[in-house]
Amino acid sequence: MLVTGGCGFIGSNFVRLVMRKLPDCRVINLDKLTYAGNPLSLADIEHDSRYRFVKGDICDTRLVERLFSEEHIDTVVHFAAESHVDRSIAAPDEFIQTNIVGTFTLLEAARKAWLSGSPPGTQDTKRFLHVSTDEVYGSLGETGYFTETTPYDPRSPYSASKASSDHIISAYHHTYGLPTLITNCSNNYGPYQFPEKLIPLIINNARNGMELPVYGDGKNIRDWLYVVDHCEAILSVLSSGKAGETYNIGGNSEKQNIEVVQTICDILDEQTGCLPDGQPRRTLIRFVKDRPGHDRRYAIDASKISGELGWQPSVRFEEGIRRTIKWYLENPAWISSLIDGSYREYYEKMYGNR
Ligand code: NAD
Ligand code: DAU
Repeated sequence: MLVTGGCGFIGSNFVRLVMRKLPDCRVINLDKLTYAGNPLSLADIEHDSRYRFVKGDICDTRLVERLFSEEHIDTVVHFAAESHVDRSIAAPDEFIQTNIVGTFTLLEAARKAWLSGSPPGTQDTKRFLHVSTDEVYGSLGETGYFTETTPYDPRSPYSASKASSDHIISAYHHTYGLPTLITNCSNNYGPYQFPEKLIPLIINNARNGMELPVYGDGKNIRDWLYVVDHCEAILSVLSSGKAGETYNIGGNSEKQNIEVVQTICDILDEQTGCLPDGQPRRTLIRFVKDRPGHDRRYAIDASKISGELGWQPSVRFEEGIRRTIKWYLENPAWISSLIDGSYREYYEKMYGNR
């Protein structure tokens, strides 16, 4: 199995799950180690003989083709991407390159390896699963849900680059018969998430008594899913999904951002005590200038994957957020390995004058 972006947040949780649940599977993790990739996230399995890490770029055609032939890849799970909306607004270039050109490079390598010259019938065992996002569908009002047939309406450079990659994936299925699958998932949270995203950023700041930046009025809604549930959903799509299909994955757990931030404050107060001056952490909340083009609400209708494949989220938000906070409190070395000069520079640029 070729996993791209396996040193990132969801990728590392997925690789760990595969190593545990699929004892016959060899995993090749191709990751460029951008600011978001952290080999420490897989330190516990790096010496396993079924695991190989390759530092490299998914846009590198020769490298990708070599891995396909050297390792006899029959399954691709494609996570590698630039994934942060705010960074895509500040500097879209890498999003176009990795998310669009990188996906195209992988598809071409799979097409050459799997479809040209391979004996008839052998394609049936191949799978190319593209991990995508609910953001391709745009923004919802107060009611309604994203289904697999909701028209695409991406509104940030990030979501537009993911939408573009989804279309190229579908084109390779319809045109060449490549056995592709697409999953469109809602917001993930859990261990190993880089502290630029809402939940780990708030946990880290709140723990350290720093201000907690909430964009706009704090009433934007996201549908939160515990990361291991997402990884389990990907495994069920890999094993039982139908080639050419799309599956929406969601947590059935809509929350306003302000509720999420207040919940984190309250749990940290309960577990570690209030701030040194005796104040509760909610006093650190600051409403700041909104994200440009900020999507108001995302909510997934996951009835296709639950009805056809029997997948359901198993961790409720109230439980998952406690597990996540506990993990960050117990793993200060992981987080401090990321809070370096470039993170401080990023933080200052994004939040300094907000
Ligand atoms: P992440 O930013 O934590 O990790 C991305 C990984 O990809 C990093 O390890 C990085 O080093 C690697 N990478 C980036 N560019 C690369 C390149 N050119 N070549 C090789 N590796 C490269 O991302 P994440 O949050 O784990 O998201 C993984 C995937 O899931 C993305 O495709 C994202 O769009 C999708 N997704 C994320 C969420 C979410 O809530 N985080 C929800 C739905 C879908
Ligand atoms: O919906 C799936 C998407 O979820 C994934 O495709 C993306 O890769 C992932 O980053 C995530 O996108 P969001 O933009 O929803 O996630 P983020 O954590 O950046 O923001 C969540 C909400 O919190 C959003 O409404 C913006 C708000 N926010 C975010 C940050 C970083 C704040 O209010 N303050 C902040 O400091």
